[in-house]
Amino acid sequence: MYSIVRTLSSAMTIMPRRKSPVNLVLFVALLLVAAGSAVYAYFHPGPWIVPEAAKHVVNPLKASQADLSGTHKLYLDKCAECHGDTGKGDGPQGRMYDPLPKDLTDAAHMNSVSDGELFYKISEGHRPMPAFRKRLTEEQRWQLVLFLRSLSNSSSSVPAATK
Ligand code: HEC
Repeated sequence: MYSIVRTLSSAMTIMPRRKSPVNLVLFVALLLVAAGSAVYAYFHPGPWIVPEAAKHVVNPLKASQADLSGTHKLYLDKCAECHGDTGKGDGPQGRMYDPLPKDLTDAAHMNSVSDGELFYKISEGHRPMPAFRKRLTEEQRWQLVLFLRSLSNSSSSVPAATK
């Protein structure tokens, strides 16, 4: 946004001094369109595209062996404000968003999403959801994947190769 304004204002200074009012009107109109589309893009991020390869990444942790003792607390600390204490997407902040966070306890939905996809989404985020790649270790993110599985009792579906 700032860079658009900067580019436009430097374009203005190289414009001839005496510009006709028509040019000015056009310039202002263009400025409004640019600002409007930047604001629109901010509030309407495009669809959340997960690279095919990321969907096939397998969780290195096994549910039976992983130590998830701290993971519930981590979830309450970092995710529940939006996703809700139980994962239903009814956290106090989550309710403000469009799209709403999905119901992570919905087994039908969760069965359609692979472990790799959950891991990718937690790592990369998608506005308004923040990216956790730098805030959490890889192990913590895989532990969260296992924790989310436990909320819905779903299993890690591996997506069909052709899709
Ligand atoms: C600021 C609010 C916010 C926080 C904090 C947040 N999320 Fe999200 N999350 C969302 C929203 C909104 C979506 C839906 C985004 C979309 O569909 O474009 C989402 C989507 C997801 C999805 C994808 C679900 C699906 O099947 O499509 C997963 C998985 C997820 N979040 C996990 C987490 C985890 C784990 C944390 C904590 C480490 C977390 N989120 C923190 C808001 C948040």
